[in-house]
Amino acid sequence: MQTTTHEIADGIYRFSTCVPDAAPGGFTFNQFLVNADEPLLFHTGPRGMFDLVSGAVSHIVPLQKLRWITFGHVESDECGAMNQFLAAAPQAQVAHGAIGCMVSLNDLCDRPPRALADGEVIDLGGKRVRHIDTPHVPHNWEARVLYEETTGTLFCGDLFTQAGNGPALTDSDIVGPALDGERMFHHTSLSPYTAPTIRKLATLQPATLALMHGSSTRTDCAASLDALADAYDQLVAKAAE
Ligand SMILES: [Fe+2]
Ligand SMILES: [Fe+2]
Repeated sequence: MQTTTHEIADGIYRFSTCVPDAAPGGFTFNQFLVNADEPLLFHTGPRGMFDLVSGAVSHIVPLQKLRWITFGHVESDECGAMNQFLAAAPQAQVAHGAIGCMVSLNDLCDRPPRALADGEVIDLGGKRVRHIDTPHVPHNWEARVLYEETTGTLFCGDLFTQAGNGPALTDSDIVGPALDGERMFHHTSLSPYTAPTIRKLATLQPATLALMHGSSTRTDCAASLDALADAYDQLVAKAAE
């Protein structure tokens, strides 16, 4: 396996590792670095990918300089390597929503995490990230996304999860492949709150969507979020029939 690095927006780096056997056409695991005075990582990758991911990150910023370790929710691909990163980066701290800290991270993190309120901003010096709670969307009580305000980059984690090993940035539709992914993996917690939560993210009018599994995009971001929400509404309605 190999990890590739691309700058997908000004100072926003995507590290991508494709696992060929995880899905037809392969399945990518992507992490993102916000390069600022206080560099921030979004997703650590699983423990087994630490050498690959940390090696790629260190080409952009020395690990010792990492200040924030963040992710969408508590699963191994999101945060499996967080304690390895905490060990390699003595100044780094995990930051997550209050629920995630209370339920899991106060116990799981080798150093105490910072608990963020919904909408709270961390000024990274040159970049600003806003924490947004999205409970159970796409899954897990502690789910959240992160919005980098200066570039309009929405780190949307497992939203739009899709198979394949596409380019770092695509102009192609991401909604169709995301619905194929949903049919394949059934990874989204379907509830009456799923669509409204996703529609609220669309109102940010993001310039870039940074996906954990799939290509990032700068095309039709808000419209894609709205279309994804509409499709989940239909699935919820169908399940209630
Ligand atoms: Fe997940
Ligand atoms: Fe994931």
